[in-house]
Amino acid sequence: MAAGKGTRLKSRRPKVLHEIGGQALLEHVIAAAKTVVPAQKIYCIIGHEAGRVQKAVERTGVGFVMQAEQRGTGHALQMVKAWFALNGGPVPEHLLVLSGDVPLIRPETIRALCEEHLQEGAAMTILTAVPENPHGYGRIIRNAEGKRVAGIVEQKDLQPDQLSVAEINSGIYCFETAKLFQKLDLLSNSNANSEYYLTDVAHMLVADGERVVALKAESVDEVLGANTIAEMMHLDAAMRLATARRLMAQGVTIFRPETCVIDAQVEVGADTIIEPYVQLLGATKIGIESRIRSYSVVQHSVLGDGVLVRNGCILDGAEVGDGAILGPYAHLRPESRIGDLAHVGNFVETKKVTMGKGSKANHLTYLGDAIIGAGVNVGAGVITCNYDGVNKHTTVIGDGVFVGSDSTLIAPITVGNQAYIAAGSSITDDVPEGALAFGRARQVTKTGWVAARKAKAAKQDIK
Ligand code: UD1
Ligand code: CA
Repeated sequence: MAAGKGTRLKSRRPKVLHEIGGQALLEHVIAAAKTVVPAQKIYCIIGHEAGRVQKAVERTGVGFVMQAEQRGTGHALQMVKAWFALNGGPVPEHLLVLSGDVPLIRPETIRALCEEHLQEGAAMTILTAVPENPHGYGRIIRNAEGKRVAGIVEQKDLQPDQLSVAEINSGIYCFETAKLFQKLDLLSNSNANSEYYLTDVAHMLVADGERVVALKAESVDEVLGANTIAEMMHLDAAMRLATARRLMAQGVTIFRPETCVIDAQVEVGADTIIEPYVQLLGATKIGIESRIRSYSVVQHSVLGDGVLVRNGCILDGAEVGDGAILGPYAHLRPESRIGDLAHVGNFVETKKVTMGKGSKANHLTYLGDAIIGAGVNVGAGVITCNYDGVNKHTTVIGDGVFVGSDSTLIAPITVGNQAYIAAGSSITDDVPEGALAFGRARQVTKTGWVAARKAKAAKQDIK
């Protein structure tokens, strides 16, 4: 169920597209569902900003059912029933219903719910929990013996004697499809929200003498809903801590993990050290025995083994070879491919660059649209002038080249292997292999000039 607007968020973005742990709520739910059933059997019920939601999760391979008007969770399932009627095809015997805003649900729990449902031969099986604060959730009303469920009552509809009920409805269920479909048309919206509640199906089935059972989730956290930004940030912290724990269990050292922002898909090898206040985002992968120092932000990047990222580096879409050293304060932009043992130092910016093994650019440099060989020394303040105001051009630098400090390389340009470029040069023409190139005015030195000037000034003062 992902059709709702999420009114309580006060946001223009549809609720299920809000992110925790670097991924949309709905993406988390789909990922969990996909570990239990194939994508072709998963359908998202969409409605509010349907196009935007569909676009965001289309690549997961799931199908979509439209709920043009959002008149409650029961109404959402009515649309599923109508979809089956319209599209023909066999109606599955059982239906698993997940909530698009309950994102921490674990595959094991979904599996346990499905097993319980089949074992119990139940018409409806509800996943429940007993959180510290049940406020806002629908509550599970047990029958006299307490084993079976009598019904679910929403927060706003609770009777005074029900306010203390601690067991909540997670919004995740298994149904025997035929029995669910039979009840859907009988739902009424005469309740505090004027909505068709899916939860009302519970007592309707019980009234028919059907089995409605509840299964308590092992951890409360995994069934917490996200109805407000504050609730989402609570889930975000829980999810990121879980990610940090997973990495630590694999041999990664993370100092002060609560200060780090690590997305769910990030992979890090054993014996790598992550210092406080580091962000590892998106599809980032880091090898073994590396070290990421504080205040670095690494996004969609692949780092090898034994890499040292010093403080305050920003990497986006970069590839970094084994044993490379970056920063402090290096900025690697997309398509930066830094070779093994290379150094990219402070205030160096790279973009669409390949840098060969052991090459160094240690200070105050811009390298853009460049192919740099191995063993190259790029002096302080070097700039590849890649843009002529209209087009981007490539700089090619061969192996073992020495580029003197404060040189500008005006692309397109090629510097041959082992060539030398004198410091302060503006290089506009190709430099052949093994050559030395100067591109600056020759120095003029006037001996005794200072004394002569002072003498002249003194004479003028006397006059
Ligand atoms: C729902 C349950 C409540 C449970 C809670 C758990 C009902 C009536 N109540 O309440 O018992 O404790 O979840 O988190 O079901 N949606 C649609 N179409 C709609 C309305 C909602 O697809 O017309 C989707 C929403 O996008 C959301 C999910 O269904 O992903 C739940 O809806 P929401 O309005 O958040 O229900 P709650 O009030 O949280
Ligand atoms: Ca909710």
